[in-house]
Amino acid sequence: MEKLFKRTDMCGSLRLENAGKAVVLNGWIQKQRNLGNLIFVDLRDKTGIIQIVFNEDSGEELFARAAALRSEYVVGVKGTVRERSAKNPDLPTGDVEVLATDLILYASAETPPIYIKDDDKVDDNLRLKYRYLDLRKLKMQRNLTFRHRICKLARDYFDEHGFTEVETPVLVRSTPEGARDYLVPSRMNPGKFYALPQSPQLFKQLLMVGGTDRYFQIAKCFRDEDLRADRQPEFTQIDMELSFVDQDDIIALQEGFLKRLFHDLLGVEVETPFPRITYDEAMTRYGSDKPDTRFGFELKDLGGLDCVRETEFKVFREALEKGGDVRGICIDGGSPLYSRKKIDKLTEESRSFGARGLVWIRVEEGGAFKSSVDKFFSQEALAQIASVFGAGEGDLILICADRPKVVFDTLGFLRRHIAGQMGLLNDRQFNLLWVVDFPMFEKDEETGRITAMHHPFTHPKEEDIPLLDTDPLAVKADAYDIVLNGVEMGGGSIRIHDRKLQQKMFDVLGITKEESQIKFGFLLEAFKYGAPPHGGLAYGLDRMVMLLAGESSIREVMAFPKNQNAQCLVSNAPNTVDEEQLEELSIAVTEK
Ligand code: AMO
Repeated sequence: MEKLFKRTDMCGSLRLENAGKAVVLNGWIQKQRNLGNLIFVDLRDKTGIIQIVFNEDSGEELFARAAALRSEYVVGVKGTVRERSAKNPDLPTGDVEVLATDLILYASAETPPIYIKDDDKVDDNLRLKYRYLDLRKLKMQRNLTFRHRICKLARDYFDEHGFTEVETPVLVRSTPEGARDYLVPSRMNPGKFYALPQSPQLFKQLLMVGGTDRYFQIAKCFRDEDLRADRQPEFTQIDMELSFVDQDDIIALQEGFLKRLFHDLLGVEVETPFPRITYDEAMTRYGSDKPDTRFGFELKDLGGLDCVRETEFKVFREALEKGGDVRGICIDGGSPLYSRKKIDKLTEESRSFGARGLVWIRVEEGGAFKSSVDKFFSQEALAQIASVFGAGEGDLILICADRPKVVFDTLGFLRRHIAGQMGLLNDRQFNLLWVVDFPMFEKDEETGRITAMHHPFTHPKEEDIPLLDTDPLAVKADAYDIVLNGVEMGGGSIRIHDRKLQQKMFDVLGITKEESQIKFGFLLEAFKYGAPPHGGLAYGLDRMVMLLAGESSIREVMAFPKNQNAQCLVSNAPNTVDEEQLEELSIAVTEK
């Protein structure tokens, strides 16, 4: 490099108390305005924007060079800080400007394909293709710095509590966390594949057998699943495992961590201990195992009412006769907000959860009822239903009747969706809670097979172990999730450390001895040699940063996320490879 201006300050750091200071700044030109005898340049680095002034005192040559500056040119500026005559209250540096005495052009730039401005409405794929430009936005830099702070605080906190950071391998055999694996062919072992880890689960348990006692890692995880706002194929966990602890120990340690996180990074005091709610209660009250408790609209069961059980209205009666549910939610003050057309839209949106329809009841002025089932329900019957919710004038009741899963999913969705539409989701309010006592197993509705709800290494509740043989679906697990504002931010469990119990779990899951030997033989083998009681937890780091930063997608807090089709648009991955490479790997592509 010919010449480099050695920086003294960052653009965003200058304030009135710096007036008179000689400074050297480096950065990008946000914009340049030439008023003839005066040139204003907004100079930007990752900390902010500062106004630079060139005037008649700058000298002809410097003035001419300043006149040639364009957006996104990379420059160095020397000058003196001074108070601005026309202050800009929208800018943290808006009280001052820098009167330039020298300028160096490091690089010119073509007009960028996206505007470098926070929250500029632009196609997501364009943002992802030019991510290096998108990252120049102050908001993106703020998010990356914030993410870094969370990682640093996590490292400090868990270090203080006796944890050792250990890296676990990325080329592994497939771990059964429920999603599809990303596979990597092995050149040295033709026809064989590694999997990228869905989580470090098995290795962290082996670290406990290995005497590591308290393990911690900021770990990359890979899951080949459909993308959503809070899901990426490649994401990061704050992962940990501890020996000689029970659920309460782990929870207390996490509460200390989260308390510090909110205090140090947001100045928010969260009260500990956090509320704990069982899985069953979460489902019956909120229709979700990750309840958002920032607002009400709780679910109520209507199946106990005679007027519902014995009604002529087939949808209710048949749902109950078939072992299903009739439940509803009451939207306080919702009646005037939801026209017939808007309710139709809600019904339409509920279809993806399997709901075939929604019944609505409005409480009109004077306490009369109007409903979509007036033909079947008298005013007295509607009053009985309304009283279950404590509904009053102006309220809107929405009811769903179907299989329990459909009812919970639909009402759980509607609760939060409507709260969003009504502006009740304050992203600066932080409702943290633990969901505990998860069922050990769930039944796959399509195949009828029993699968582990968390993963097959989770310890069943001690008192439920006898039920493994007789009624496995009734067995509860020592598993816990940490939920923030309706998002599952992390989860973990106490693990099985007994070989026989682990084998029993595989039996219940229909994993044959042979299969379990092939897949997890190494874990069962390790347990032969003295495994300590252990348990752990993993946070989704991306989700944590998203929620604390007030973002609505984890893409906003990842440097180079994948798009909707799991592609990296910057580097154009995935892509085809040379025939030669494939041959070396003994792979033939049978493209359809
Ligand atoms: P689990 O599968 O619940 O548990 O994952 C832990 C946390 O990781 C986050 N997460 C994701 N974040 C972004 N994109 C994804 N595709 C994604 N999938 C999961 C969530 C979730 O709560 N080994 C166990 C942990 C343990 O038992 O200790 C595990 O991985 O925030």
